[in-house]
Amino acid sequence: MSGPLLQVRDLHVSHRIGRRSLPAVRGMDLDVAPGEVVALVGESGSGKSSAVRGITQLIRPERGSVLLDGTDLVGLRGKALRRARRDIQMVFQDPYSSLDPSMSVAELIGEPLIVHTAQGRAERRRTAVEMLEMVGLRAEHADRYPHEFSGGQRQRIAIARALVLRPKLVVADEAVSALDVSSQNQVLALLQELIAELGVACLFITHDLAVVRQIADRVAVMYLGTLVEQGPADVLFDAPQHPYTRALLSAAPVADPVVQRSRQRVRLTGELPDPMNPPTGCVFSSRCPDAIARCHEEAPADRRPRPDSSVACHLVEADPALQPSLP
Ligand SMILES: Nc1ncnc2c1ncn2[C@@H]1O[C@H](COP(=O)(O)OP(=O)(O)OP(=O)(O)O)[C@@H](O)[C@H]1O
Ligand SMILES: [Mg+2]
Repeated sequence: MSGPLLQVRDLHVSHRIGRRSLPAVRGMDLDVAPGEVVALVGESGSGKSSAVRGITQLIRPERGSVLLDGTDLVGLRGKALRRARRDIQMVFQDPYSSLDPSMSVAELIGEPLIVHTAQGRAERRRTAVEMLEMVGLRAEHADRYPHEFSGGQRQRIAIARALVLRPKLVVADEAVSALDVSSQNQVLALLQELIAELGVACLFITHDLAVVRQIADRVAVMYLGTLVEQGPADVLFDAPQHPYTRALLSAAPVADPVVQRSRQRVRLTGELPDPMNPPTGCVFSSRCPDAIARCHEEAPADRRPRPDSSVACHLVEADPALQPSLP
């Protein structure tokens, strides 16, 4: 088996606020395999976008490594970074602010080709029109401008632009969150179809668990700058292990009323703690309904209840066969 496409280790990302530094991501480990769709979920302010910015080098991580196909993006500069970035493209939440309003659709989709390929003007236009058709728009849209399109169509344009270089990884940060439900479903279905067809991996950031169910192979749950649980989507949805994952899932409505009724309700009380002033011990200890004394004193190491899952909680039983052996 080939190794992961993206391998994030001990990622730390901070924001400068005046002379202070706000730690938004504090030691994140995440793998994405080639062609895999991994959803990163967590409530607002948990650090999802900061993680994305650290992974794509829009913010320089304070610490840690981001290996893309074996190359560490952290520390790359100039030409080497531009070359590596070709393989990792982004789709943002709001295509209205991420698409330059003064450029035509063909120019927007063709722009990455200027930087990364030797294609001339006519060829770039041909490629852009091909991409337009691939995302369900038409050749005659090529000379129009972003404001002439609906939100869903603009997001299709953003997807075409992200895929035009055939990257290995697309990072979508709340890519459908600003759309109404029906365009949301259409854009999601399109994204899903294209990444499968092109064999692109996707790191999909969202706070909407219904969307996660629809699209993700694996899920990583973020809380206050750390990942508290990771695993295959069906395992995580059917048998969430971390008290925070259980709380997140029980807050989300389920279509099946039987499941909805039978589900254990876990209420989240209080607010996300201030990242400048995190709780001691487990990050979730200040809001955890199950916390014991140890949780307030000692941060839990990752446990592996299954070979493909990890959970950072003192209360979760690990499979002893899967733990690193003691020296
Ligand atoms: N540019 C910034 N400057 C200062 N602090 C920031 C900045 N961006 C984010 N933060 C802070 O970093 C923490 C993580 O924020 P982040 O935007 O990464 O969370 P998120 O999970 O993406 O939230 P949302 O679901 O609302 O998009 C928060 O405490 C936030 O206030
Ligand atoms: Mg965000």
